[in-house]
Amino acid sequence: MSVYNPETKNIITGHKALREALRNTETYSSDLQGDADVRDYRQLPLEVDPPRHHLYRAALAPFFVKPKIEQFIPQFQANSEKLIAQYFTGETKEVVSELALLVVMENLGVIFNRPQDVVEWISWGADVWTAESETRDGGVLHRYLDRIYEEALTKKNDDIWHEIAHLEINGEQISALEFRGIAGVMLAGGRDTVVKLLTGMLWYFGHHPEDLAWLRNNPEHLNSSIQEFLRFLSPLPIMNRTTVPESGKTNLPPERYVGMSFISGNFDESVFENPFEIKLDRPKNPHLSFGFGPHTCLGIHIADIEAKVFLQCLLNSNLNWKVAKEEIRYHEEPYRPVPDTFETLQLVL
Ligand code: HEM
Repeated sequence: MSVYNPETKNIITGHKALREALRNTETYSSDLQGDADVRDYRQLPLEVDPPRHHLYRAALAPFFVKPKIEQFIPQFQANSEKLIAQYFTGETKEVVSELALLVVMENLGVIFNRPQDVVEWISWGADVWTAESETRDGGVLHRYLDRIYEEALTKKNDDIWHEIAHLEINGEQISALEFRGIAGVMLAGGRDTVVKLLTGMLWYFGHHPEDLAWLRNNPEHLNSSIQEFLRFLSPLPIMNRTTVPESGKTNLPPERYVGMSFISGNFDESVFENPFEIKLDRPKNPHLSFGFGPHTCLGIHIADIEAKVFLQCLLNSNLNWKVAKEEIRYHEEPYRPVPDTFETLQLVL
């Protein structure tokens, strides 16, 4: 997923204003090239406007529909049960690298039917852009994408890369660059976001065992708990739009970027009572963590179902844990209580 440009001065905040702006793709365009330090192609369908955006969306939507993802629940459950049991063995281990990332990557291996790639994806860490060094670098992702594209064109594998490489947009098979743009988002978009969601749930219950006990006694609140963690943790807090579509323009004003602050919508007091409180039974939760409007996250059902299965396995396990060590980078004011990055999180029973 594209990284937010820190030079952005104009930021749209508040639930109502955001929803209006996110629908208004003419004023707030997604025709922009993000992450210029690590890539020179568009992430798709993220960085393109309607009407072309609709074509990519329509082609990709069948891979993401709820009944399709629900078929994988037994495998997600087996992955979560195995990895939770392996994590809680009494030794001190990191949650991100030794539990959450493993669950998310093993699940993606199932969804994409690429179990043979899981070890390689895990070796990249939670953020593909920093897989090889401290400074951002697209090398590791691009070498992988080029290899699987070549393989998809030459072998008839029964996996998602084969299907995507042969997608047709307006009657034409997609190009190598379009393949990079689509497959790149499918690998990057569902990675650190879901990892943060699972890590955040473990962190919260580590500090609030009484809420874990309450949820065990009130399992009908599993769904509302997931929605509340999504709202509070806001795993993708802000994304860019541009007021000047970039395609074909040479002189682009530096102030063209606008920030869509999803996190501000999630803590809007006119919509959420006591927004800084985590209420696992919050009755209405129209959070904006998956965005809003035409670019609303395609992976909603993947994230929702993965998180539900993971939390259900934790509830079934009867394990109770505490936070042994944490180093957390929090958001800046006014979202200071919200974790931005879990740098270290270790749990003990
Ligand atoms: C908790 C997990 C996730 C969160 C919080 C999240 C958040 C978001 C947000 C906010 C957007 C909209 C960006 C914008 O409007 O500029 C988005 C788009 C997208 N997400 Fe997710 N995402 C998550 C998981 C996933 C997963 C698991 C996948 C796939 C494997 C995925 C694939 C995508 C794609 C392809 C788009 C682009 C949609 C479009 O432009 O039409 N996401 N996501």
